Amino acid sequence: MPSTQQLTQPGGQGTPKFLVNRPFQSLRQMPLNTKSTVVGDLTMTNHRVENGRRDFLLTIAGGIAGLAAGSSPGRVLAQPASGISISTIGAGREGGALGALFVKAGHPVMFSSRHPDTLKGLLDELGPLARAGTVAEAVEFGDVVMVVVPYTALEQIGKDYGNALAKKVLVIDVSNPIARRDGADIVKWVDDQGGAGLATAKLLPGAHIVRAFNAINYAKLPADAHRQGELVGVPIAGDDPHAIEIASTLIGEIGFDPVVIGGLAMGKYLVPGTPLGGEHTAAEIRQIVTNLH
Ligand SMILES: NC(=O)c1ccc[n+]([C@@H]2O[C@H](COP(=O)([O-])OP(=O)(O)OC[C@H]3O[C@@H](n4cnc5c(N)ncnc54)[C@H](OP(=O)(O)O)[C@@H]3O)[C@@H](O)[C@H]2O)c1
Repeated sequence: MPSTQQLTQPGGQGTPKFLVNRPFQSLRQMPLNTKSTVVGDLTMTNHRVENGRRDFLLTIAGGIAGLAAGSSPGRVLAQPASGISISTIGAGREGGALGALFVKAGHPVMFSSRHPDTLKGLLDELGPLARAGTVAEAVEFGDVVMVVVPYTALEQIGKDYGNALAKKVLVIDVSNPIARRDGADIVKWVDDQGGAGLATAKLLPGAHIVRAFNAINYAKLPADAHRQGELVGVPIAGDDPHAIEIASTLIGEIGFDPVVIGGLAMGKYLVPGTPLGGEHTAAEIRQIVTNLH
């Protein structure tokens, strides 16, 4: 089975050969290394099946508009994606902690900063798979890019790197609009767009965005990863089936249980202070989401 890395060999103009805008039927030939359970068009709500490939294809057949709360048995799906390159725009508390987990899972990670020399300590801790770069270098480096910055920074990042980010197979949006940090005006603007998921899509047009990890505290991430007993669930939201699939695989690899709660419009619930904030099991997340509708 080809690895995720093999599937992301660069094509023309740096565009990954991967499945951006790929016809849905061609996913049948695509090796899936996740059993992520994305459940629910109108006829499948909360129906859980063991075969992730079948489930995912069924979801695609049902259309992305039908995405609803699902779960992936993370302990089972954790086949390594064999070193897909990952970048973080923002390598502060949350970006640093998440990037470290991906390094530990065997992925090359470029941590970026506007002052990359400040990241030396982090690199020393993490070893050769970790590297530091400018934001531009990180955008160039990663097949997958995590955006983990104050929400106010997203507009300029979109202006500077939007075209490049739109070519990535996955942009993980971890950023939140927080009034006390970002100001009330931006929070109002985000609300007016329909919440953080749809707002990020406006700021990063064309990007294959999945919101994830938005309300799990950075300090909890190391101990939560691969937790004993039931895994910590990570609610995720996105409109692109393949980006969701890659995100689910990666989240499983670092020891969490991804739960697709719906399209980007549901991203408004993936911020601190909503019922989905904090740590929950996948079953708890599914229950919470049921009550959100
Ligand atoms: N902290 C948490 O537990 C947590 C949990 C979930 C989600 N989040 C969300 O994650 C985001 C980051 O939070 P954090 O706590 O990690 O913040 P942080 O520790 O202050 O780190 C912020 C990072 O963003 C970068 N940054 C700031 N402005 C930038 C710009 N204009 N262009 C590029 N990079 C820029 C900074 O890089 P420089 O080195 O260039 O300054 C820094 O690495 C926020 O939206 C937050 O709501 C945080």
